[in-house]
Amino acid sequence: MQKLLIKGNQELSGNILISGSKNATLPILAASILAEKVFLSNVPLVKDIFTMLELLKFIGLKIKVKKKEKKIELKNNNKRINTLAPYKLVKTMRAGVLVLGPLLTKYKKAKVSLPGGCAIGTRPVDLHLFALKKLGAKIKIKDGYIIAQAKNGLIGCKIDFPSISVGATENALLAAFGAKGDTILSNCAIEPEILDLISFLKNLGCKIKILGRKIFISGIVSAEKKIYHNIIFDRIEAGTYLIAGALIGKKIVIKNLDIKTFKKEIEVLRKMGVKINKKKNFLTILRSKKLKNTSVTTKPYPGFPTDLQAQLMVLMTQANGLSSIKENIFENRFMHVPELKRMGAKIEIKNKTAYISGPTKLTGAEVMATDLRASVSLVLAGLIADKRTIINRIYHLDRGYEFLENKLKKCKAIIKRI
Ligand code: UD1
Repeated sequence: MQKLLIKGNQELSGNILISGSKNATLPILAASILAEKVFLSNVPLVKDIFTMLELLKFIGLKIKVKKKEKKIELKNNNKRINTLAPYKLVKTMRAGVLVLGPLLTKYKKAKVSLPGGCAIGTRPVDLHLFALKKLGAKIKIKDGYIIAQAKNGLIGCKIDFPSISVGATENALLAAFGAKGDTILSNCAIEPEILDLISFLKNLGCKIKILGRKIFISGIVSAEKKIYHNIIFDRIEAGTYLIAGALIGKKIVIKNLDIKTFKKEIEVLRKMGVKINKKKNFLTILRSKKLKNTSVTTKPYPGFPTDLQAQLMVLMTQANGLSSIKENIFENRFMHVPELKRMGAKIEIKNKTAYISGPTKLTGAEVMATDLRASVSLVLAGLIADKRTIINRIYHLDRGYEFLENKLKKCKAIIKRI
């Protein structure tokens, strides 16, 4: 099994080019079922994307990946379509459940494996099913599969989500695309990745309006035949490197991003005393000698993202005084804490909140990655630790960070995969 080896305490300097967003690409790939020909650019070629492509191939789409150009072409000629998403392709990547909406709305039936729990929580799909049922689908759960049918097609309706979910909003949007009549979704997630999906669906011919957390969709009868779409930047990747720069950057320039969608992260870091220079599509970060403590709660967008919680916690170990992070989205997202504590961090967890005392000198250790964002927080900790850090189970990192070692090496980090 591969490991990462990091020699800590090396100042970072250089440019980092942010990749396309994994979380925007996944629902757009699922949405490609609805089109005839799709040309995507700025696609991050990470493991989760290849898992989704495997699922789409299984369903019957023809796929061409142009690795060097980071482009993917998908064709759905509607021949030999399999409306099944098997367990083996959904269990490792929950976003597989996003094919449910498009299959159901286009082919009137779908059988999709229940994704099951994961390290950060139970992660049910009840809100996805709630929305699809409202649109008229008959759904039963049998042998670990969601079996959904809409013999006469889905019908537009009003759906008021009892709580905010990214995935459920996406599945509802994808299903409403082919429903008869109009759909109004309330209490939606409005993450930039959802707005990217909406811009893809609009390109495909769908009329969609957004008002606060309400989305109005007019179902369409026939989609555009051929569309081009450029994926937005990965704000979580950008935030991760921003924190790396704040921890140990002599001068890091982060390029290929749109700071309009990145305000909360910048606000929190600036409050902690991080020096950030903003330009329209790049940021410059310098290591901050004196970091201030702060309190943060993770929230749906435009709040502080749960996907940056673990990375921010590493920065908090270097701030003066007691900081805290309340994790409000997932019930079990502090798996990195025991590993950070093994490196010397002083962190206590009470209910949903982690209290971090700083500044603490971290020491290199052999640690275990538990999920995607927890893994990258250990990389950040390794970059500032004394001596050598070894990170096990780095396959989690490969699910979502494109060229992580290369990007860091270009900035003079000493990091090696063994
Ligand atoms: C997406 C992101 C993930 C991010 C999360 C929250 C992708 C591929 N993944 O995950 O990186 O951490 O948003 O920003 O985009 N929930 C229910 N019932 C449901 C669905 C969700 O109770 O049917 C709960 C979840 O358990 C969780 C909360 O709602 O506690 C938010 O989950 P959700 O927004 O759906 O996250 P994902 O779409 O799975």
